[in-house]
Amino acid sequence: MPKIAMLGSGFIGRFYADSILGQRSRDSIVSVYSRRKESAEKFAKDYHCKHWTTEMEEAIAHPEVDLVCISLPNNLHEIAVLLCCKHKKAVMTTKPLGRNATEARRMLEAVEDAGILNAYLEDLVYTPKFLKAHASVQNGALGRILWAKSRETHPGPHSEWFWDLEQAGGGCILDLGCHCVEIARSFIGKDIRPVEVMCWADTQVKPIEAEDHAIGLVKYENGAIGQFEVSWTFRGGMDLRDEVMGTEGTIWINNFLRTGLEMFTTGKGADYVAEKAESNTGWLFPMGDEVNDLGYNHMFTDVFNAFEKGKAPKETFYDGYVVNAILDAAYRSARTKLWEPVQLDIWRGRIGVSKVSPLTEYDADHYLVKEEMTHYGAKKLILKEKTSGKIVEKILN
Ligand SMILES: NC(=O)c1ccc[n+]([C@@H]2O[C@H](COP(=O)([O-])OP(=O)(O)OC[C@H]3O[C@@H](n4cnc5c(N)ncnc54)[C@H](O)[C@@H]3O)[C@@H](O)[C@H]2O)c1
Repeated sequence: MPKIAMLGSGFIGRFYADSILGQRSRDSIVSVYSRRKESAEKFAKDYHCKHWTTEMEEAIAHPEVDLVCISLPNNLHEIAVLLCCKHKKAVMTTKPLGRNATEARRMLEAVEDAGILNAYLEDLVYTPKFLKAHASVQNGALGRILWAKSRETHPGPHSEWFWDLEQAGGGCILDLGCHCVEIARSFIGKDIRPVEVMCWADTQVKPIEAEDHAIGLVKYENGAIGQFEVSWTFRGGMDLRDEVMGTEGTIWINNFLRTGLEMFTTGKGADYVAEKAESNTGWLFPMGDEVNDLGYNHMFTDVFNAFEKGKAPKETFYDGYVVNAILDAAYRSARTKLWEPVQLDIWRGRIGVSKVSPLTEYDADHYLVKEEMTHYGAKKLILKEKTSGKIVEKILN
């Protein structure tokens, strides 16, 4: 049973605490660090922490703490990770791991040198819908995965530091694209090397230096394509959707809006609806159990089980590093308007995977293009002659 130090008492720190204290009922947050005394004290009271502090190192070094949860702005992840290494405390870090792959790589190398458990808290590959979809993909229900698309768009983040390029490290590509990239990468196969990225990005609405809207394509060595669509300018709440297309099937996931729970209210008694909901009157799309539906419960269960068994969780700092490297390529591509290579100095997946041949054998002389059942009862085959390359039709009945 890990005893946790929570670093940060803001938005995600509280979601994490709700999940950690809510599910197994045997895990505890024993210390909390926050910049301001009042926030630390309030968090400690709300989540029954014995100890609070305004000194980050004090929370990490606290003798009872054996697992540290980093819920701080992006520019503080590395500082916190290095302190965990110094005190040899297991560490889990929210997304994105680093502001770029250089930072992420330093963190990866530091935790591995220190020999501590490291978890990358990518909750969206732990949602119940993702887990079911991923199991179907693994079982071959979709055949060979050709395309995996993930979209996260909302009206923009909730704290000032996100909007500051130095502290955040990027705009919506880094903030939201990190989720989308890891979702697509998981469907395509985490052992398949991402090779190059093409990305459009712009600042269409907000008065900021970073991008507030972007679309990107990530090409994988086996020929599969990942796609991310991210925005801080979308109106209407938080849109979280994934699509997977394979040679044998398709999956569509709607994670947040239109999930089956729809409600109308004039506003009487209106309250919190769901993350980034823009209204609490009219037609609403609340979440049934936000902490569970966003994957936090399954994520912490995996991390804590790994901690107790001395194993690695499903998502480690290595995954965070790969995601950062893909996003670095996206930023380069948005500038150069070219396909940019993904620079991965550390690659632990398969190497030299070639693109699968698109030719399906029909008989000795033909490849199969398509079968079609017509509305007038005839079954047609579209075939390609192997020698001439000519496309022909064959009617079966
Ligand atoms: N689904 C997710 O996985 C998810 C969702 C939201 C945020 N995040 C990530 O969580 C991290 C924190 O984001 P948040 O939404 O909780 O932000 P937040 O602003 O709500 O909270 C940040 C916390 O860090 C503290 N803080 C801010 N600036 C600081 C500084 N200079 N020094 C020390 N402490 C400081 C704040 O007081 C607060 O306690 C970010 O890395 C963000 O990307 C992840």
